[in-house]
Amino acid sequence: MGFKVAVVGATGNVGREILDILAERRFPADEVVAIASRRSQGVDVSYGDKTLKVKALEHYDFSDVDICLMSAGSAVSKEWSPRIGAQGAVVIDNSSCWRYDADVPLIVPEVNADAVVSFRKKNIIANPNCSTAQLVVALKPLHDKAKIKRVVVATYQSVSGAGKDAMDELDRQTKALYSLQDVEMKKFPKRIAFNVIPHIDVFMEDGYTKEEWKIVAETKKILDPKIKLTATCVRVPVFISHSEAVNIEFENPITVEEARALLSSAPGCLVIDKREPGGYITPHEAAGEDATYISRIREDATVENGLAMWVVSDNLRKGAALNAIQIAECLINRKLIQAKQKAA
Ligand SMILES: NC(=O)c1ccc[n+]([C@@H]2O[C@H](COP(=O)([O-])OP(=O)(O)OC[C@H]3O[C@@H](n4cnc5c(N)ncnc54)[C@H](OP(=O)(O)O)[C@@H]3O)[C@@H](O)[C@H]2O)c1
Repeated sequence: MGFKVAVVGATGNVGREILDILAERRFPADEVVAIASRRSQGVDVSYGDKTLKVKALEHYDFSDVDICLMSAGSAVSKEWSPRIGAQGAVVIDNSSCWRYDADVPLIVPEVNADAVVSFRKKNIIANPNCSTAQLVVALKPLHDKAKIKRVVVATYQSVSGAGKDAMDELDRQTKALYSLQDVEMKKFPKRIAFNVIPHIDVFMEDGYTKEEWKIVAETKKILDPKIKLTATCVRVPVFISHSEAVNIEFENPITVEEARALLSSAPGCLVIDKREPGGYITPHEAAGEDATYISRIREDATVENGLAMWVVSDNLRKGAALNAIQIAECLINRKLIQAKQKAA
């Protein structure tokens, strides 16, 4: 018997990607239900070659749902994930609401799949921030080999990471600038078209932004609490895929050749690294793909055991939808969940 899967936030960037990936990977679902806010009730969304009519969250009965893939933001998750979990469905949540809760596992299957076993405490599993997911996939094989001491990362994050309204804003502003009209700013505090903004999420007391704090806290929870990390997160006028310039200091020696070989065979990683024009990945090419791409691997000679690299991945896929579905697959493959008996 297959599973009943609810996709909450099905009209959003991540939700639509979840529906595509469920169909692409032939996820063992007998039924998939698309759910969003009351505003979207009755709207059509695609699931493979089928069309689903969106249902409203507030009226939905989750009692026979097995897996709920939630991507409707923190406020919705705070209210609904515990309720849905209490009805016996496992909630895999894309928001930041539960990531730092000690009773909720925060999972990137290539990195810490074993930690998933503790999910029954709340019936909630958290998916990391999009920038963290691709970063830890690339750091894990290097950490296993040479033990990471410190990481310095600068992110170049696409507008899709801020939701569908943010993509519309880049589109509108670009068109306005080409037709010599005034640019309207709603979603971002400064113009995003033909610009970059060194600010994502709210400012914290120490001067870092919450997005930067999230990468630090999540890398510690997923990979190793001893790793020191500092981040600068920047929004760039790219629609899909986040890029990261990463400098790593290791406890033990590791050569560029060793790193390249390790990353070439690591799960989820794809190395594209020729030292010639175009011999690297750009966000445009990573969009729609599953891999975490690594390019520009080189020695960072400013520290004793140092490497520098360029990491790119589709933030809507590995950074959100794909990772959530991989977590669900992990639960099924490890026989940690079973489909509920459904009424005939
Ligand atoms: N985009 C990324 O790269 C990324 C990566 C990791 C995590 N996330 C997280 O994933 C979540 C969704 O992001 P997104 O980019 O998909 O946002 P989005 O494009 O703005 O979509 C938001 C979705 O949530 C639904 N929603 C909003 N309020 C709701 C309510 N009261 N009840 C039910 N549904 C409601 C919306 O439905 P309506 O259309 O009906 O309003 C829509 O389906 C966020 O928490 C985000 O932080 C995003």
